[in-house]
Amino acid sequence: MPDTAALKQLYLDRARRRWHWLEPPAPYIPNPAEPKDFPLGRWNLYIGGAGRSVDGYVNLDLVAIRGVDVAADAALLPFPDALFQRVECDAVLEHVRDPAAVMREIHRVLAPGGYAHIVTPFCHPFHEYPKDYRRFTLEGLKEIAGPLQPVAEGWRTGPTATLLVFAIEYAKLLFPWRAWRIAAHGVLGWLLFPFRYLDLALFNSPRACRLGNHCYLWLRK
Ligand SMILES: C[S@@+](CC[C@H](N)C(=O)[O-])C[C@H]1O[C@@H](n2cnc3c(N)ncnc32)[C@H](O)[C@@H]1O
Repeated sequence: MPDTAALKQLYLDRARRRWHWLEPPAPYIPNPAEPKDFPLGRWNLYIGGAGRSVDGYVNLDLVAIRGVDVAADAALLPFPDALFQRVECDAVLEHVRDPAAVMREIHRVLAPGGYAHIVTPFCHPFHEYPKDYRRFTLEGLKEIAGPLQPVAEGWRTGPTATLLVFAIEYAKLLFPWRAWRIAAHGVLGWLLFPFRYLDLALFNSPRACRLGNHCYLWLRK
């Protein structure tokens, strides 16, 4: 486990640092075709929901800050076998040391017939929560899914999202001063966000995998 006091402070500082009045719309839109309705059960697990409330789920994260029910490492889930009907693991696997070990734990705690929803970045800037180790393709995710069976897959956020988030991050690299970076984020975010709708035409392209931003995979036990 990491230094929990330092990690708590990092997440609290990040939450405090948002400049809401400058915050432009997100440079991406989610794929409307991504399924969201696989059944929930009496017990469901959300991995990595620090700082947010996730109704209907047990919220597990590394540190016990707002919204977290259980502080633990996803590679060693403190639950019995076959407890959960659904496990959500959204933008977490890039931050864990051993994603295959986390997948094995997800498989273990899922009830037979239960579903896991995995979302991971493919083309996305470096971001630490608290580390950032790697990126994933859909094929790579399936390789570590073990006996879990894929039932749906695709792109959560598409190639245009990739271009926009990289353009904004690139512009921020040019400024050594934090205030200028915030201004660049705001100005470019407002100028570029209308392009995000191009992804509606690209989500289903067989070539979206060349530049997609985040991919999703639904798995069944
Ligand atoms: C990018 S954030 C996920 C955001 C969240 N899914 C959401 O949509 O708001 C990654 C989260 O995974 C958590 N995390 C990283 N490594 C973890 C681990 N080994 N076990 C459990 N949670 C972990 C981080 O603390 C962080 O809260």
